[in-house]
Amino acid sequence: MTDEWSTFGVDLHLDLTAGRAGGEGVRAALERSLREAIRGGRLAAGTQLPATRALATELGLSRGTVSAAYDQLVAEGYLIARHGSGTRVADIARPERPASRGTPRPPRHDLRPGTPDVGSFPVAAWLRSSRRALGSAPPAAFAYGDSRGRPELRAALADYLGRARGVDASPNRIVVTTGYVQALTLLAHALPEGGFAMEDPGLPFHREVVRFTGREVLPLPVDDRGANSAALPAAGVAAAVVTPAHQYPTGVTLHPDRRRALVSWARTSGAVVVEDDYDGEFRYDRQPVGALQGTAPDRVVYVGTASKTLAPGVRLAWMVLPGHLVEPVMRAKRLTDYQSEALGQLTLADFVTSHEYDRHVRAGRARYRRRRDLLLSALGGHRLEGVAAGQHLLLGLPEGAAEPRLLRSAAARGLAFGVLGEHWHTPSPEHRGGLVLGYGTPRDAAFPAAVAELSGLLSAEAVFG
Ligand SMILES: Cc1ncc(COP(=O)(O)O)c(C=O)c1O
Repeated sequence: MTDEWSTFGVDLHLDLTAGRAGGEGVRAALERSLREAIRGGRLAAGTQLPATRALATELGLSRGTVSAAYDQLVAEGYLIARHGSGTRVADIARPERPASRGTPRPPRHDLRPGTPDVGSFPVAAWLRSSRRALGSAPPAAFAYGDSRGRPELRAALADYLGRARGVDASPNRIVVTTGYVQALTLLAHALPEGGFAMEDPGLPFHREVVRFTGREVLPLPVDDRGANSAALPAAGVAAAVVTPAHQYPTGVTLHPDRRRALVSWARTSGAVVVEDDYDGEFRYDRQPVGALQGTAPDRVVYVGTASKTLAPGVRLAWMVLPGHLVEPVMRAKRLTDYQSEALGQLTLADFVTSHEYDRHVRAGRARYRRRRDLLLSALGGHRLEGVAAGQHLLLGLPEGAAEPRLLRSAAARGLAFGVLGEHWHTPSPEHRGGLVLGYGTPRDAAFPAAVAELSGLLSAEAVFG
């Protein structure tokens, strides 16, 4: 009989104990719980309630008590009883739930950096991969497994990363994580003592992630040749975290001299270099710059992510580790969440081996290149940096002081973008200014209007390059 409760498709927690200490009878308690569930929206209009006999059995009450409670709620308008079709929840007009304060309304024209065009997620191909992957998955895929991640995915990634990004990868040195953010966290747990040198300017969120683990964050200055390791201490730093292919947020590519200097500093100081290759697949004007890791696989931790190529919601990223870090990082992963979920990993493994990933990245490259070109032609008179790659570029401003005013005027037009000012380790009016313009987020059809709004703003505010 208890099955009937779920054959109606609803499974509802009714708390009959809440008011009973105050002498509430069991029938009153049932009425109150149902009223609360209907008012609060947990029981939606039209939902069929279980038959009185089934609910009575489920709750250990007499059928008469349940019937009487239903009758009372029918009389009050919460339920509708139709002969032959059971009892349903009525459509009572509920006050609207207050809008969640934590989620501000997205701007009409969203040029903030960070998110690709999630509307172009390859749903059909992903479904095919998912069906194939689950259909052929061994039972072990559904059990606890290797904390590094599914072997199918690690093998697929080792092949892809070697071929497409010049990474020196083997499946046994790959650890699959829940995004770059978890890779950073695991490294902060696993590496020997010492601070993390992080690019300045750089993404404030990632500095916060590192500090949250108790590590100190040191500035690693960035100029027009990328991160400059010259001033880093010779000891006491555990890692230098960099974005060599397309620095975030300035967009500069790490100069070959700087690449060499960074690796050489890491070797002599005993630190590692963490290479965040978040948008390395998207290079427009010439061959992608190969991964730094390929030149020093014993010193560089390579980290890639599906967040730019597919979507951030996929929550899959991968680290390629020097051999000596595999065990400490696996331990950190095990003690954090044991392993990443297997079904997405199997799907991505199929997506990569069937070359759907390459196809999707190629289509993305064409899409983002068109958008970048539109931005370049609309903003021709301005100083634009970091335009050769990625999904964002930097529009240089004569001074940082102009940023707040431009943000305010943009907001009044329903337009949003990032500014350089929020990326410095220590904010100061001395820093140069810039608009960080992401061109990933809007749908294709909405993109030209966003660019037009931006052009309008820059003319109205007399911003010159
Ligand atoms: C600089 C940088 N690195 C990495 C990432 C990817 O992070 P995750 O894989 O945690 O989504 C992002 C995403 O915006 C980023 O801006």
